[in-house]
Amino acid sequence: MPIPADALRRTGGVAITRIVFDQQTIADRVREMGREITEAYPAGDLLLLGLLKGSFIFIADLARAIERPLQVDFMVASSYGKGTSSSGNVRLLYDPATDLAGKHVLVVEDIIDTGQTLQRLLSLLGARQPASLGVCALLDKKIAPPIPEVRFVGFDCPAAFIVGYGLDHAENYRHLPFIAELS
Ligand code: IMP
Ligand code: MG
Repeated sequence: MPIPADALRRTGGVAITRIVFDQQTIADRVREMGREITEAYPAGDLLLLGLLKGSFIFIADLARAIERPLQVDFMVASSYGKGTSSSGNVRLLYDPATDLAGKHVLVVEDIIDTGQTLQRLLSLLGARQPASLGVCALLDKKIAPPIPEVRFVGFDCPAAFIVGYGLDHAENYRHLPFIAELS
């Protein structure tokens, strides 16, 4: 896929190795996922629970592609420790204000890597008696053992470190309208 002419302006000169998913490809798939979710939840209260910060652009587009009533809330989770690998220890820095009991809760996640963040969150949220608990992830690196709650996945993606459309590297590049590998 060609690198857009404005890419270097957006990254501040950092070169992009490759566009993994371009803007149109993402938009088409998100619209399709909206249709899948609309059909999968014919009745009941639906709550989209976005995992910040990585899901902020995805959930904004996804929510508008779902053609049924819904509510939106967010969670902020933090893994202890630094680095590019997940530590497996998760705590909630922001706990959703919404009562989950009796609702169809759909956790919206940017990317599943080791799946550890998600596993820990799901056991936390499952204890709050939702009517159902599912996960919608834009990207899956296919490294994690299968997680039964993952009902919707946008794309399988390479096991490389990618940025854009909400995903960061050291808090940068979340605003890129495409998903890319940096050099
Ligand atoms: P996990 O617990 O290993 O599945 O880590 C998931 C979280 O790590 C995601 O929600 C992302 O915030 C972050 N992450 C994993 N892989 C990438 C990547 O390739 N680019 C940017 N962030 C990533
Ligand atoms: Mg991150």
